[in-house]
Amino acid sequence: MAIKHFLQFKDFSRDEFEYLFERTAWIKNQFKSYHKYWPLEDRTLVMIFEKASTRTRLSFEAGMHQLGGAAIYLNTRDSQLGRGEPVEDAAQVISRMSDIVMIRTFEQEIIERFAANSRVPVINGLTNEYHPCQILADIFTYIEHRGCIQGKTVAWVGDANNMCNTWLQAAEVLDFKVNVSTPPGYELNPALIAGVEASCFEVFADPMAACRGADLVTTDVWTSMGYEAENEARMKAFADWCVDAEMMAVANPQAVFMHCLPAHRGEEVTAEVIDGPQSVVWDEAENRLHVQKALMEYLMLGRLQG
Ligand code: CP
Ligand code: NVA
Repeated sequence: MAIKHFLQFKDFSRDEFEYLFERTAWIKNQFKSYHKYWPLEDRTLVMIFEKASTRTRLSFEAGMHQLGGAAIYLNTRDSQLGRGEPVEDAAQVISRMSDIVMIRTFEQEIIERFAANSRVPVINGLTNEYHPCQILADIFTYIEHRGCIQGKTVAWVGDANNMCNTWLQAAEVLDFKVNVSTPPGYELNPALIAGVEASCFEVFADPMAACRGADLVTTDVWTSMGYEAENEARMKAFADWCVDAEMMAVANPQAVFMHCLPAHRGEEVTAEVIDGPQSVVWDEAENRLHVQKALMEYLMLGRLQG
């Protein structure tokens, strides 16, 4: 049987996401009730980080521990990965000694090559192009706060980055719409959203217009990891793409605000919004833990019941 990976959001069907969201709620409830649940006892997760992380490392490591397994952290600085060992060779070796692998790296191509040579499931913990685990947590958070996301509108304000590309894939799989507003010069990359139905997103020059009537307003840093050399130019170009109270005021009065974090108050979002009553960012961050536990369980054990 082919090994299942989670490299892009569109790797899973709507039916699989529906299962995962239900399973996440059950796993979260077990955890909150202090019930020991160890389906992954004696299993090992290897986490490979080529970029910095707080939430992704913590949620995968704690999550694996809570499911009865162990997690090993590798980075490029002190493993052979940073010294030119081919990714294909690393995949062969790492996947013979572990049961599941999570990778945070630069180009999506790296993770695709790793997965093609892996004997165990591989999870994308963020690439330049996509961040599927974060969108899994975001949608679970939306469902917890507001119910089904089908037919709803998400406003994306800012960079057409890995988060934005993944929102668009999710819109297609789960049948909602994304209003995208980016500064000139930082628009969506057609190659990365090729295959996403045109009816799933709409591009707006004005961020206020993108937020009008939206059920969820979200943004991300102006400069993603790996793009630091562009920081100065981006600070100028993105100045009007700051989610503020005015943008939230034109959204649906029930709209929630999300941010994958880390956030820069005063840049992509005002303190008033991210620390305000519509913000669900702390639930969103916590839910990384719960959705990824369901994801790892699913990739290793398949569908389970209660
Ligand atoms: N949101 C997110 O992936 O955070 P980290 O970079 O801290 O892992
Ligand atoms: N777009 C950001 C997300 C960080 C979690 C980055 O890639 O740096």
